[in-house]
Amino acid sequence: QAFFKPIQSVAPPSATSRRTKVSIVGAGNVGMAIAQTILTQDLVDELALVDAKPDMLRGEMLDLQHAAAFLPRTRILASTDYSVTECSDLCIVTAGARQMPGESRLGLVQRNVALFRSIIPPLAKFSPDSVILIVSNPVDVLTYVAWKLSGFPPNRVIGSGTNLDTSRFQFLLADHLDVNAQDVQAYIVGEHGDSSVALWSSISVGGVPILSFLDKHQIPYEKQMLEGIHEKVVGGAYEVINLKGYTSWAIGYSVASLARCITRDQRRIHPVSVLARGFYGIKDEDIFLSLPVQLGRSGVVGVANVCMTDEEAGRLRASAEAILEVQSQLGI
Ligand code: NAI
Ligand code: LAC
Repeated sequence: QAFFKPIQSVAPPSATSRRTKVSIVGAGNVGMAIAQTILTQDLVDELALVDAKPDMLRGEMLDLQHAAAFLPRTRILASTDYSVTECSDLCIVTAGARQMPGESRLGLVQRNVALFRSIIPPLAKFSPDSVILIVSNPVDVLTYVAWKLSGFPPNRVIGSGTNLDTSRFQFLLADHLDVNAQDVQAYIVGEHGDSSVALWSSISVGGVPILSFLDKHQIPYEKQMLEGIHEKVVGGAYEVINLKGYTSWAIGYSVASLARCITRDQRRIHPVSVLARGFYGIKDEDIFLSLPVQLGRSGVVGVANVCMTDEEAGRLRASAEAILEVQSQLGI
């Protein structure tokens, strides 16, 4: 006897009814921060978790399921078997080694490339039409590796890139100017790391270009003050890692914002790691780095033709060189 008495026979949802599924590989600090934020923001109908540690993975799944009374109804699955990710719309990869205090992201490349050889092919096999979103570091090089290993078109392989750096930049600028961070239109581009580039020339607050905003409000600034803010962005992760051992909350919200843009086809512009060949004087190398990109359900809709000064474009090319120096040694 059904718990509720139907008032009319209701056909089960058709196989083609639009259900949104996201899979997260790596149920560690970052993967679970992303999972928790995606669930809270009601972004998916189904969430699948994969990790190499079966007991911890099952524990994380049960712990999230026990919150069902406080969350939108979402089917939460977990397995060490990649078949659990089948038919995902978006596959987020956070599996891998993380930096120790003072360690650079690029120093993780060998360990995490080796992991990707066992992670990316099954993900691509079980969800051949998905968008793959890489978070593991060094994210730009690993997004390139994921692109090569998946065989997907470049519009469906992106990295979280400088979406996180940009949110740190917005926070610091907003704090300095005493405005809301969401009203600071700003981009950090290039490597998610030590060679990232602040696009000062295109930053605006409430539609007012920042440099004239500072002049207009007689807020004193020198070039080194601006550089100082960017240095805090670059040092942000190192500081947090030194203090708590890893970063998780900001990247959790950052990746959830990308997941929303993709799964809800929002067409918003985010600075994420994309195949940058042919943009801003980056010649014909196959390199992934962050540029302002319009994102939708099929991944990259287009790269925004944001204006850059010659100095900024030169710094972007230097950032590309830093990534290529590591990537070229992989033999992939
Ligand atoms: P963590 O150690 O807490 O979690 C990593 C998880 O990956 C562990 O649960 C581990 O069991 C799992 N794992 C390892 N090998 C696996 C495999 N072959 N298959 C499936 N799962 C596997 O590390 P955390 O703090 O979550 O960081 C994860 C990665 O994310 C690191 O590379 C870190 O640098 C990166 N990260 C990237 C950020 C970005 O802005 N792109 C920001 C923060 C972290
Ligand atoms: C961060 C590092 C961990 O930016 O990539 O938080």
